[in-house]
Amino acid sequence: MNASDIIAAAEHRSTPCYYYDIALLNQTLDLVKKYGLAKGYHVHFALKANHEPTILQRIQQAGLGADCVSGGEVQQAIDCHFDPKHIAFAGVGKSDAEIELGLEKGIFCFNVESLQELIVINEIAKRKNTQAPIALRLNPNVQVNTHKYITTGLHENKFGITDEELLLVLDALADLSHIQFLGIHFHIGSQITSLEPFVELCHKANDYVTQIENRGFSVKVLNMGGGFGVNYEDPDSEPIPDLKSFFEVFDTHLNYRQDQEVHFELGRSIIAQAGSLLTRVLYIKERSTKNFAVVDAGMTELIRPALYQATHKIQVLSLNDSNAPITNYDVVGPICESSDTFITDHPLNKLQRGDLLAIRSAGAYGQVMKSRYNLRPDFPVLYSDELNHTTIDTE
Ligand SMILES: Cc1ncc(COP(=O)(O)O)c(C=O)c1O
Repeated sequence: MNASDIIAAAEHRSTPCYYYDIALLNQTLDLVKKYGLAKGYHVHFALKANHEPTILQRIQQAGLGADCVSGGEVQQAIDCHFDPKHIAFAGVGKSDAEIELGLEKGIFCFNVESLQELIVINEIAKRKNTQAPIALRLNPNVQVNTHKYITTGLHENKFGITDEELLLVLDALADLSHIQFLGIHFHIGSQITSLEPFVELCHKANDYVTQIENRGFSVKVLNMGGGFGVNYEDPDSEPIPDLKSFFEVFDTHLNYRQDQEVHFELGRSIIAQAGSLLTRVLYIKERSTKNFAVVDAGMTELIRPALYQATHKIQVLSLNDSNAPITNYDVVGPICESSDTFITDHPLNKLQRGDLLAIRSAGAYGQVMKSRYNLRPDFPVLYSDELNHTTIDTE
């Protein structure tokens, strides 16, 4: 990230605001193309990580599909020109209206999470005189070293179909006349920085394919989900995650055939590092025990620290006093909650009112989780490649 570009972008503009480095997004997408798409893999972008139209259009143009977890996301993907034939629809609680939408739009696949959901999709497809393409979202009970709120592939999590449930689903499947069985889907969690869980997932997937095909079903689609993590501590040392190694795990450990398609649903690894939340210092509170820097962004703009105890690097972009010594701060927002804290006891150059900070790696699960709590106003969004003709309101 080029700090001087951002400082220039933020000058005369109101904060808080989101800033996206489109060149970095493009470089990341180039690696997805090189190590994923070029090998014949199908990569879907998980809209839950970011659903800004400007971002989605670039991702769509790079040749990725979309992975959605609500009817709203399916519609947003279509509005941003994703071909419905490249839209996957996951989610543990799809409503009837959302299932109807997916069928009407002719999406690629519903990732089905329970026997009851499968039966409901079959009924709705029958009523609409159509076939519903589905993959079974399996819960492979793979342990991942991430925050418990973003672990999804353990039996204690609400997601997916366990091994026991799978037997019942396979028994039922043959009688569901309006279901088109495509294959299997997994998503074991998010912000997974080690490749080991993905190796284990491949081995489990190989076993599932054998088990399901032995029951007489043909597994055409292997959707391995997303979950690859990014470096939040030091984004400048790793602005693009090691997607080469990520895809190589599947080249090496997944036994797929020529007649099978391998799909992925990446969110965070594509967009996290391209986004920053820009914020200015409002007030400094110095106490004998600690110092607070109260900034104008809060959990309403970036909830990850409050929700997942996530740590984002905080970069000082411009200081009123360029010789400011290092001081420890709790960087906190204006929201009336003590959890509205970005970082605790963190060394930064001594701050003053008006200093500009970037909260880094905020491109995924940042802007999408904004809220109006405390009746906070909406905020501007800046894109690195549109800075000269952006129409953001000035202060
Ligand atoms: C079903 C599904 N697919 C894909 C993703 C994207 O995960 P990530 O952003 O970690 O790549 C998620 C996120 O949790 C998800 O729930």
